[in-house]
Amino acid sequence: MIVAIDGPAGAGKSTVARAVADALGIGYLDTGAMYRALTLMALRDGMAVSDGPALADLARRHPVELANGPGGVRVHVRGDDVTMAIREADVTGAVSEVAAHPDVRHEMVARQREIMRHGDWVCDGRDIGSVVFPEAEVKVFLTASVDERARRRHAELVTRGERVDLRDIRDDVERRDLADSSRAASPLVVAEGAEVVDTTGMSIGQVVDRIAGLARGVAR
Ligand code: DC
Repeated sequence: MIVAIDGPAGAGKSTVARAVADALGIGYLDTGAMYRALTLMALRDGMAVSDGPALADLARRHPVELANGPGGVRVHVRGDDVTMAIREADVTGAVSEVAAHPDVRHEMVARQREIMRHGDWVCDGRDIGSVVFPEAEVKVFLTASVDERARRRHAELVTRGERVDLRDIRDDVERRDLADSSRAASPLVVAEGAEVVDTTGMSIGQVVDRIAGLARGVAR
């Protein structure tokens, strides 16, 4: 079974997707982490994030490794643990441009399908229900108001000890929404057959129960 969870930045996808995977006892694939890890490699190598073919080639030569562990997913590239580094502001600022290249998406989608070829998975991203796995048994479009998403992201960064301004976060969320939904290659859309779940005012537990319930209904 594939549970596809798509939605805009800050809707809580990765937190929810990981918890749903735990509740169902199945694997979790964070596709945003794959785009982020590629972006980090490109920045470290001093590559232009405008060069789609070169970025796709980098992704082919150095596939991102994701390992589910007790503390969450660990992300490795070229033998380095980049789990924390891929969440930093320079990566967040450049990843939308990297993810907009059709060559890059082609490479990433092939790898995502390969990883999920066997077994049951919860997978989150922007194009999982629309492009990667349109045949997914459960499709969810997770969203929340811009203010709520900005507040959540701000709280998360503050918890991590970063000093950030809520207005800057809100601007960044809006900028990424626009970039992700207006790009030509696989824009963020509500996939056909997806259930829209607006999490504004819902607790994580409520959202997880709702999606796990949908999956259990399908598995029955
Ligand atoms: O979910 P996230 O913030 O970690 O995603 C990082 C970026 O990658 C985001 O700007 C959108 C892009 N992305 C994508 O285009 N397709 C996916 N399946 C996952 C993420």
